[in-house]
Amino acid sequence: MKEILILKNAKILSDNGDIVSTDIKIENGIISEIASGISYEGELIDAGGLFVSAGFIDVHVHLREPGGEHKETIKTGSMAAAKGGFTTICPMPNTKPVPDRGERFDDLLLRIKESAVVKIRPYGAITEDSKGEKLTNFKVLKDKGAVGFTDDGVGIQQAGVMYKAMQEVAKIQLPIAAHCEDNSLILGGCIHDGKKAQELGLKGIPSVCESVHIARDILLAEATGAHYHVCHVSSKESVRVIADAKKAGINVTAEVSPHHLVLTEEDIISSDTNYKMNPPLRSKEDRLSLIKGLEDGVIDCIATDHAPHTEEEKSKGMYDSPFGIVGFETAFPVLYTKFVKTGKWTLKQLVDWMTIKPAAVFKLSNIGKIKAGYCADLTLINLDIAEKVDKNAFVSKGKNTPFDGWLCYGWPVMTLVNGKIVYKK
Ligand code: DOR
Ligand code: ZN
Ligand code: ZN
Repeated sequence: MKEILILKNAKILSDNGDIVSTDIKIENGIISEIASGISYEGELIDAGGLFVSAGFIDVHVHLREPGGEHKETIKTGSMAAAKGGFTTICPMPNTKPVPDRGERFDDLLLRIKESAVVKIRPYGAITEDSKGEKLTNFKVLKDKGAVGFTDDGVGIQQAGVMYKAMQEVAKIQLPIAAHCEDNSLILGGCIHDGKKAQELGLKGIPSVCESVHIARDILLAEATGAHYHVCHVSSKESVRVIADAKKAGINVTAEVSPHHLVLTEEDIISSDTNYKMNPPLRSKEDRLSLIKGLEDGVIDCIATDHAPHTEEEKSKGMYDSPFGIVGFETAFPVLYTKFVKTGKWTLKQLVDWMTIKPAAVFKLSNIGKIKAGYCADLTLINLDIAEKVDKNAFVSKGKNTPFDGWLCYGWPVMTLVNGKIVYKK
């Protein structure tokens, strides 16, 4: 029996960026028709003229399960994602244990099957236990469904290890997603090595800590033909070397996180660890260059780096608290308010960077666009009502956000995955 659902009175983006009114017909979880006045023949949802986007895709998230369930679980993380309008998310392997072999990846998939409310496409690790030494079996992990490979949380310190990893992924056509950080350049820092670190008397992490790895890896990608994806780009030098690499035809893509687009070191309130993340918030010039990089296509997409930690863990001061902030439940409203509401970006630019662009980078098929034949992964958003971010209302276990109290527009009110409601305000 065919399950039919009609989403009536939706406003969607047309290919040229205009907003048009339409109905969307969904058959067995797949979009089958987009037209006005589709006749009713099944279940009905009235969107009431709300904006409907393709569900957001987040290619960089931390769900903590297994091993870090006190911070987040696949259930709470995926529910927070649904509340933020995300319908596909890609968790990083810095869990305990690390999904670095078949059995562990199988266990992760089983947990996902049991408790996820959105689509989850995990990464496999590049090296065993993400220690940066011995490569995992990429073919085995690919066959089980890995979306790519990464040791996110730490950089791959040895060029030779990255070189071999790239030779291997080039054979199986999956990307390496790199957390770029040279351990010898962290220098004991906890925030960016700039004005604010000086002012607060804190040790800083210089931008070269990141950019030196990106420059190295780009040359390795050129030498091996691998698809190299740069995680959470944070500095202007990084943007420049990625731009040069793209010009040279090297297969490199990149993501930027909402916090690096919106905040700088100058926003850091002394000792507030909700401004501590890795890579750190950098200078005003860095932020402007990230925005321009995104606008110019040097940076391909936006990814949150949702990194939940408990309040207790985050209460240990700037040096001893863990790096990271949550992102699912604030990403769209913060970016919409800051960039679209102000006229800097079009709605289509922002939506594309959170849907079809990440889908293209990771070759995720049939998602990221409202189109006949695509999955009915949809997000209904109220663009017109302003509400304050309230961290205590987060579904995520993590309340570690610098955006608490921000007045934002663009709140998701309903999220559908394969035509099924997974979040409703
Ligand atoms: O801020 C961060 N948090 N950066 C990372 O690289 C890791 C992440 C985490 O796992 O908490
Ligand atoms: Zn990282
Ligand atoms: Zn991360």
